[in-house]
Amino acid sequence: MPSEPANAAPARIPRHLAVIMDGNGRWAQRRRRPRIIGHRAGARAVNICIDFCINRGIRALTLFAFSSENWGRPEDEVGALMKLFLNALEREVEELDRRGVRVRFIGERDRFAAPIRERMAAAERQTRNNDVLHLSIAASYGGRWDIAQAARGLAQDVADGRLDPNDIDETLLASRMSLADLPAPDLFIRTGGDTRISNFLLWQLAYTELWFTEALWPEVDAGLLQNALDDFASRERRFGLTGAQVAAQTNEIVE
Ligand code: FPP
Repeated sequence: MPSEPANAAPARIPRHLAVIMDGNGRWAQRRRRPRIIGHRAGARAVNICIDFCINRGIRALTLFAFSSENWGRPEDEVGALMKLFLNALEREVEELDRRGVRVRFIGERDRFAAPIRERMAAAERQTRNNDVLHLSIAASYGGRWDIAQAARGLAQDVADGRLDPNDIDETLLASRMSLADLPAPDLFIRTGGDTRISNFLLWQLAYTELWFTEALWPEVDAGLLQNALDDFASRERRFGLTGAQVAAQTNEIVE
């Protein structure tokens, strides 16, 4: 999927949807169940979300599955989540591949145990030629980590004499960020009632439309996702231009 420059055309179907799946723990606690039950229910909602994207023609979906900060959760929750990821990778990859989903992982992969790293690599290998939906799972990911790793790569190029510091600009830095080959997310959804970005795709979300809901992630269904899309379709995206400029560009596109 080619990365396209932002333009000021009216918003319709997002090309790229980014999601913070929050509220699994509270969903379980409300049922007096352990938090991991909420994560399992969350995994089912992931499938609903993938189906929705395929059905609506959304070409890229990025899910925040595990943040750099989530390593600090109680050991038993982290362990149970790792098991859930491993099982999901083993169970779902064949079906995702059959449906034309390309799977990739972004984040600090070295922090995962070898069996998970191997499964991640195998899933990426198996699905690398698919193009129906680009599914990116952010795991051990942080937006600040992403910017730092991109900067480190450029610094290494300068140190090796391959790059003049004067040539470093936004375009070059963007080319070293995770997901550089995809258009930036058009729409960001966060469930669970909090209205913040929580160190997700800090660089990539610069002009993304944000949509928040009180619904907990395991409660997500196609109706709720459609509400987000309807709201997105009604917004005017200006990318720093004036409303009149946007209207003029839109007319040019229509003419
Ligand atoms: C946030 O809810 C959710 C997570 C930290 C984990 C997300 C994982 C899944 C949805 C499971 C499966 C994912 C894949 C990709 C197979 P929380 O625990 O912070 O909820 P709370 O705010 O109610 O405590």
